[in-house]
Amino acid sequence: MRKVMTALAAAAAIFTAAPGGAQETKRGENMQQTLQAYKAAEYTELSGMPGFSAQLIANHMKLYQGYVNNTNALTEKLADLLEGGKEKTPEYGELKRRLGWEFNGMRLHELYFGNLGGTGTPRQNSRVYKAIQEQFGGFEAWKKDFAATGLMRGIGWAALYRDNVSGRLFNAWINEHDGGHLAGCTPLLIMDVFEHAYLTDYQLDRAKYIEAFFAVTEWEAVERRLPR
Ligand SMILES: [Fe+2]
Repeated sequence: MRKVMTALAAAAAIFTAAPGGAQETKRGENMQQTLQAYKAAEYTELSGMPGFSAQLIANHMKLYQGYVNNTNALTEKLADLLEGGKEKTPEYGELKRRLGWEFNGMRLHELYFGNLGGTGTPRQNSRVYKAIQEQFGGFEAWKKDFAATGLMRGIGWAALYRDNVSGRLFNAWINEHDGGHLAGCTPLLIMDVFEHAYLTDYQLDRAKYIEAFFAVTEWEAVERRLPR
């Protein structure tokens, strides 16, 4: 079982009663519920993954931890401002906007690390493989489009989404962390194309990194994300 499930479960349980301890973030005596801070997941299974050096993974984990910390700090600060009657200040507005960047930076990394460490080959009888075949006209045709999305100039993410209204699949570009998300869609496969994701091992050769990503994609994780 991947350890990421622990973090995702913690995230889902954010409104549960606080058990106390270091992760507890109490806010005001009138607060009916106590919020639980996000905890960074561990991805020990990714150490030694082909195509990704230990140094690259260690650096990436540090960056991910920063997003978790900042998401916690931001949610606390916003609640403090609200409680202090400062919700109409520019600071509140700017921090509220910032939350989309930090939170998505945290969650996109969890999705990314969660779909690494595999064999790179989807089961041909899996639902996701069949949907890709049907909608893109073949796995290689899908792969070509996903790679092209990831090779776009700029920093961000390539995402395979499933539109839960129509059932259609899309390869989409997420700008930085917060721009370009397809509303109401489920992210199935996420690829980080910020330079920190590959520079250590591949310098500026993003195409080579994308090949390394495809070689270790964990398609079973992708399959689990596909809504029934
Ligand atoms: Fe990253």
